[in-house]
Amino acid sequence: MDLQSIPAIADGLRKVENTITRLGGSSALPAINEAAERVIHAGGKRLRPALTLATALAFGKKPDRRVITAAACVELIHAGSLVHDDLMDGATQRRGIPTLNADLGHSKALVIGDFMLARAGLAALTAVSRPVAEVLAATTVELAEGQFLETADLFNRERTQESALRSITGKTAALFRASCTVAAICARAEAQDRARMAAYGERFGLIFQILDDLLDLAAPAGSMGKPTGHDLEQGVYTLPVLRTRAKNPQLLDGDVPAILARLNRAEIVEDTLAYCRDLADQAASALPAFREPGIAASLRGLPHSYIDQVAEMTRRPALRKAI
Ligand code: IPE
Ligand code: IPE
Ligand code: MG
Ligand code: MG
Repeated sequence: MDLQSIPAIADGLRKVENTITRLGGSSALPAINEAAERVIHAGGKRLRPALTLATALAFGKKPDRRVITAAACVELIHAGSLVHDDLMDGATQRRGIPTLNADLGHSKALVIGDFMLARAGLAALTAVSRPVAEVLAATTVELAEGQFLETADLFNRERTQESALRSITGKTAALFRASCTVAAICARAEAQDRARMAAYGERFGLIFQILDDLLDLAAPAGSMGKPTGHDLEQGVYTLPVLRTRAKNPQLLDGDVPAILARLNRAEIVEDTLAYCRDLADQAASALPAFREPGIAASLRGLPHSYIDQVAEMTRRPALRKAI
């Protein structure tokens, strides 16, 4: 199920694109605009702004200028957080192009990421509403805390599942939650329905990150553009790994090849998918009763259909290396 195949969402996303371009190009310094625009236009699935538009539409709210700006702010925060994430990870490629840290150096990448996050906050305050700006500012705080917790636990073999969950709730699920919440606020949904949308978004965000973590271990070799076990190499012991360690306490002893050799790929895939399916059921049942049944059904089915997509990716045979 694909939100972008819904005409009202596809139409809204085109407007969101214009707004992100305008905001990303709004610095007084042309060099900042050029770098921010490069990151923004390199691609990206635009899943978070699509969630904002879908939520607004589900509540019967047409995506007006405020909703479009809120969706653009969400994507700008996401893109800024990726600039910082790549800086922290020392990553050289993102969305198929060189990262800003690889291209311009650490200091410039740091402040361009700052620019994107701060610009989103300013736009939310001036062109959406104070409550939306508050949600997005609080989300950016959570994002920093989630990333901090991950950094604090690097190479910590005693990392607990609770600690990993807390980290991914902050670094990823909080922005999914906000993607839905800001739309519920713009649509003037009841407080109870806002809370339901927040619960849906948070669970979907957890699923999204846990499956990203799973693919790092279980995607067919060569299909992700990075080596299998990249997170392990970096010392990030993710939830799928920690759930496996609960059954095999020696799992994290030794070097990365030894850990990978100990992991049973089929088992970790099955366990992680089952865990995510449970979260997807929780997400679906958190949803409020909507006015728009078509969009409501899409939102309800979305986490499960994303899980199915990832399950399919793990089943695909390894891509043959180009000669
Ligand atoms: C990447 O998010 C970061 C994670 C939370 C795993 P996306 O996979 O949504 O990134 P883009 O926007 O499509 O590049
Ligand atoms: C996502 O985490 C980063 C943020 C949410 C900021 P990852 O570190 O797993 O993302 P990728 O794997 O680099 O895309
Ligand atoms: Mg990363
Ligand atoms: Mg990852």
